[in-house]
Amino acid sequence: MRIDVLTLFPQVFESPLSCSILKRAQDEGIVEVVLTDIRDFATDNYRKVDDKPYGGGPGMVMMPGPVFACFEHVQKLSPEKGRVILLTPQGQRFDQRKATELSKERRLILIAGRYEGFDERIRIGLDAEQTSIGDYVLNGGELAAMVIIDAVVRLLPGALGDEDSAKDDSFSQGLLEYPQYTRPEVFRGMKVPDILLSGDHGKIAEWRKQQAIERTRKWRPDLLEDSK
Ligand SMILES: C[S@@+](CC[C@H](N)C(=O)[O-])C[C@H]1O[C@@H](n2cnc3c(N)ncnc32)[C@H](O)[C@@H]1O
Repeated sequence: MRIDVLTLFPQVFESPLSCSILKRAQDEGIVEVVLTDIRDFATDNYRKVDDKPYGGGPGMVMMPGPVFACFEHVQKLSPEKGRVILLTPQGQRFDQRKATELSKERRLILIAGRYEGFDERIRIGLDAEQTSIGDYVLNGGELAAMVIIDAVVRLLPGALGDEDSAKDDSFSQGLLEYPQYTRPEVFRGMKVPDILLSGDHGKIAEWRKQQAIERTRKWRPDLLEDSK
């Protein structure tokens, strides 16, 4: 997969992309993440990318010119057209289902906003899918783009070692994951359930399934409603 990110702050991505699973996935050629600075496509000497809103009001709005020029440049960097995602709190909420859907694409193009957001003609003209990571407002789309990259790359074949398999992760089967335990067997008086020490894999699988259903019913009953 190739992921292009259009941003005014490419440096925000450096640390999360340079460690652990995301680093390994890039090193092994499972994913290529290409960051492009929208400011490089400003046309004046001040590298201006934002301006005051027509009609008045607080803050600055991202101008369409630099975003369009950046987008047109990025699109030509690879023959694959790509799925274009505009990060905005006004978009459809990102979830595990969407992460799975996006993980099947060969190319994603993520566009991160700043300031008061995008000039409306960016949304209209780029015909982009509007995506939000939740009902709150961030200072910029970089962390939202990073959340999407992290959740999607995790699902790419080969990105996780077998020991980190995503198949039982919360939400992947419409349930929260079952409780996990590791050593020691007893910690501050709390004991690992006997079933997990029994070696009976059939019974363990059944117990885990029951636990997953129980905790989903208790903590996230909306997930069970959604799957009906
Ligand atoms: C301060 S926000 C602008 C919010 C805009 N004034 C509004 O109320 O819809 C600046 C940028 O952060 C990003 N952003 C903020 N919250 C987000 C969210 N929940 N999901 C995705 N992107 C978000 C978007 O790219 C947005 O253009």
